Parts: sequence; C-alpha cells; structure tokens
Amino acid sequence: MKLRCPICGKTYDEPVQRCECGEPVEFELFKGEPYIGKSVWERFWDFWPVEPALEFSLGEGDTPLMKSRLGDEFGVKLYLKNETVNPTWSFKDRGTFLAMSYALKAGYKTVGTVSTGNMAASVSAYASRFGLKAKILVSESAGDEKLKAVSVYGGEVIRVLGDYGRLYFESLKLGEKLGVYFMNSDNPFRIEGYKGIAFEIAEELTPDYVLIPTSSGGLFRGIAKGFIELYENGLIDGLPKLIAVQAEGCSPICKAFREGKEKVERFENPRTIAKAIANPCPPSGNAVLKLLRELGGGCVSVSDDEIRKAQKRLALEGLFAQPASATGIAALGKLNLPEGVKVVSILTGSGLRTLKDAPAGKITECPLEGLENCLR
Ligand SMILES: Cc1ncc(COP(=O)(O)O)c(C=O)c1O
Ligand SMILES: [Zn+2]
Repeated sequence: MKLRCPICGKTYDEPVQRCECGEPVEFELFKGEPYIGKSVWERFWDFWPVEPALEFSLGEGDTPLMKSRLGDEFGVKLYLKNETVNPTWSFKDRGTFLAMSYALKAGYKTVGTVSTGNMAASVSAYASRFGLKAKILVSESAGDEKLKAVSVYGGEVIRVLGDYGRLYFESLKLGEKLGVYFMNSDNPFRIEGYKGIAFEIAEELTPDYVLIPTSSGGLFRGIAKGFIELYENGLIDGLPKLIAVQAEGCSPICKAFREGKEKVERFENPRTIAKAIANPCPPSGNAVLKLLRELGGGCVSVSDDEIRKAQKRLALEGLFAQPASATGIAALGKLNLPEGVKVVSILTGSGLRTLKDAPAGKITECPLEGLENCLR
C-alpha cells in the first residue's frame, strides 16, 4: 500500500488519510488490464487498493450513460452519466463500498462520516450491509427530514454543535484515537471507488469534456485519477478536458483558479440551493486546483437560477436530479464548447433526496362527472 501526497510528494506505506503538510494523500497509479466481468469491480480488478467485498455489494456502479437531446441546444453531443440510480441515490455509494471493504478487512467494528446528505445515507446503509456500526456526524442546521433517510438504515446520527468546518479534521483525529474508521468526502479509498465512473465512460465512448459537480473535490480527483490510469496503461489515447462545476454562491475552487492562486481560500457567506456542493473550505481544493492546471481543465460557477432551469430541463427528459447534480447542465450554457464535441455530464444525485425544495408542478382538479372534458 503506497500513498503519496499530490502537493508535496511525500510518500507513506501505512494507510494515513492526510499528509503531514495537511493535504490529502492518494494511492499511487495502478497498473493493469481490464477483464470480462459482471461488475465494474470485476472488470477493473487490478485497479483497486483493496479487494472489493463483493458479497456485500448493494449493486453500486455500472450506471447508465445516455444520450441527451439537450445537447442539440448547445450544438454538442451530450451524454448523462446517471449516478442517481445507485443504491442510496448518489455516486457516493461507489466510494463508500470500497472504503467499507477496507474497514472490514482492517478489522474495524465502527465507521463514521461527516455529512448531512448523500454521503450520510450512503455510509449508514453500507455499514449495516457490512455488519458494522456507523457514527454519522451532522451539522447543527441539518433538517430532521433529511436525517430520517440516514437513521432508517441504522446508523447513529450525532448532531454536533460548533464549527462544521473543523469537524472534518476533528473526526479524523478522534477516529484514529478511538478506532472508528472515518470515510469522509476525500478519503483515499473513497476516491479510488469513484474511478469506476471514468472506467465505465471509457468503455462506452471517448469524451472530449466531462462536467463534474465539485464540492470537497473528492469526486473530481477520483474521475481524474481514473482517466489518468487508463491513459498510463495504454487503454485510451488521450485525456478528456475535465471541468469542475461549482455553485456561484459557494465557489472557492473556481475563485482561486480564476485569480491564479495556488491555494484555495475559505469562501465567505456561502449561499446556494445546491447544498450538497456548498463546502466553503474544500479539503481537496488545492489538489483539484493543481489537477486543473496540470491537465488544462476548467472551473465554471453557475447561479441558482441557472441551476433551477437545468433541473427542470433534466426533469422534462425524465431525469430528476438534485440541484447540485444539475449544475453540469447549467454550466453547458456558459462554456461555449466547440460544435459537435462529445460531453459527459455527471448526474451525481437524485432529486428525491431534496424533494422538499423541488418546484411544485401544475395539478389540475377535475370532478369525476367532468372527466371527459378534462382529458381532452
Ligand atoms: C449530489 C452531489 N454532487 C456532487 C458532490 C461533490 O462531490 P465532492 O464533495 O467529492 O466534490 C456531492 C458531494 O457531497 C454531492 O452530494
Ligand atoms: Zn504533503
């Protein structure tokens, strides 16, 4: 097991989560070849840092990639990678499954995470599936309704009063002391699990651009590493341009990228409807910034209004994405991409998780006696 800090280059033989310099660490590039297999875990068997515990899989990954007619509006060939169909409705399940496979193998009895939405539900569900206990740390402001979708799986929900930003680091420190394996947003195993998105896309097409809703930066780093490993192993001929998409009301990575800064700074007064991607201090922010510069990617921020419109457009194509997840489509209107290029937008999580905030549709009332008229 060899981990490396993408910022200072220091390497580690033991499974640490952060480098001494404070940045997240990641596994070195894997070498291998693809096989015939039922699941992405089996087909890319050589590329995981721990053996996937397939007997505990809930069927995460292998999600549909579908052509969208919205591409016509923007003069591009648009494909949607529908991560909303994962077992707990978001891409988080891929990373949770792999991190949980490690926790089980390493002998942990309890796992944890810091989240209020998609990752909280995912860790709670997979912990139960794996027969482990889960401690889910949520912020003071987390709504009761969202927490129900977490506690239903059996995880213990702990509301933490205090600075939510500090909780990420505090949880890692205490987890180590108490033997609780915390799998937060950019845990090294979690990131490896997200590589499957890149692998599955490459099995079907060669995209020119991939649009990635970005908060902590874990998902972006995972998809980037997936494509880099495919390229380094001679399985694809070139890398797509990766575009990080953030909400204007909380866009610390885009701000640092635009201003040519080397470090991401805290984004003051975050405010957006895309709550799932509203991390003002992204723990993988500097690592994403470095990747964007090295790979020639881009960062686009979109307004709440643009997000709402994108969410509606997707729904009218039969896909109910949560606001954070619709940001990729919102970004399409701002990117001015060359005519005819192939674009993949990652639909990261389901709108059902944020149902309370969804726009109400039109409902017609009709007396039974007048039904014939209503149906005309
Ligand atoms: C729906 C959705 N999209 C995108 C993201 C961004 O992922 P990351 O924090 O790894 O950048 C999240 C993270 O919570 C999410 O819940
Ligand atoms: Zn370092």
